[in-house]
Amino acid sequence: MKIFVPPIKCQGIKTKLVSWIKENLSEMKYSRWIEPFMGSGVVGFNVRPQNAVFSDINPHLINFYNAIKEEKITSSIAKSFLETEGTKLSKHGQDYYNEVRERFNKNFEPKDFLFLNRSCFNGMIRFNSKGKFNVPYGHKPERFAKAYITKIINQIDYISKSVKIFNWEFVCQDFRKTLNNIENTDLIYCDPPYYGRHVDYFDSWNEKDEKDLFDILNIIKGKYILSTWHSNKYRNNNELEKYTDNNILTKEHFYHLGATENNRNAMTEALILNYSPINNDKIIYTQFYGQQLQLLEPKVKYSSDFSQDSHQISQENLNNS
Ligand SMILES: C[S@@+](CC[C@H](N)C(=O)[O-])C[C@H]1O[C@@H](n2cnc3c(N)ncnc32)[C@H](O)[C@@H]1O
Repeated sequence: MKIFVPPIKCQGIKTKLVSWIKENLSEMKYSRWIEPFMGSGVVGFNVRPQNAVFSDINPHLINFYNAIKEEKITSSIAKSFLETEGTKLSKHGQDYYNEVRERFNKNFEPKDFLFLNRSCFNGMIRFNSKGKFNVPYGHKPERFAKAYITKIINQIDYISKSVKIFNWEFVCQDFRKTLNNIENTDLIYCDPPYYGRHVDYFDSWNEKDEKDLFDILNIIKGKYILSTWHSNKYRNNNELEKYTDNNILTKEHFYHLGATENNRNAMTEALILNYSPINNDKIIYTQFYGQQLQLLEPKVKYSSDFSQDSHQISQENLNNS
């Protein structure tokens, strides 16, 4: 499956999970796609729903997509902007990056946000306590080479075309507001910041947020998918224990730490669903440090602690399948 990569990148981008999420939508019918934590938007942009609300607390993401909708940013505008700015970056490097960052922190111009996102360190989005973008320079003065600009403008073109044929809204608001107005025919994809991980001005997440989201999802009318993490080498996600009445799907993937190929770390991702996915008769197992995990976990008491009990549950279901 060819995955569309959006023009703005962010931490926690779910590019690698898109196919898996799409598999679990299968032929499901819904009237609106609701994405209260859009981030880069990679999931919804690949699902391509007819009607969608993409929202996020970070106004710069939303402004960027509204600028495309309003044709203030088109592929040709972005091309000439990145060519001009890219030439200055290749001449002056860090100094020019800092100049654009200062300019952005005064005017919050969406084109500058694109420039910074594509030339900063690791394509990160991070704002300080005063709401100022503070990611350092990525130290690639030749960043905006011709091929790279072409890639970006194709990404913008994909969005420009999509917003013409689909009814996609981009709204800056807290998830509680987005989830306040849900119909039973809606499908919600939630990908909140992971509790206890990075914290930044727009991307912080605390115990109250975690609880509010759980309480809202517990009584919500529509169907939902919640992305979270299941476990890594060191820890299990205890928050999963709250979702015992749901279907929990897990999938292991590897990411690299540092430059060496050998330094591969496993992370098991989870999708929590308040409905049964279409392919629920197809039970797939993933191997996790010698433990068997079911891709589709049954509605049984869930324990994130790999004690004897939780392991037995997996084994029982393995035998029953
Ligand atoms: C893990 S990222 C989403 C990543 C996205 N699914 C992707 O693939 O790119 C979480 C997003 O939630 C947003 N966010 C944090 N707190 C929020 C809140 N209270 N309401 C709405 N959005 C929030 C952050 O700005 C961030 O963009």
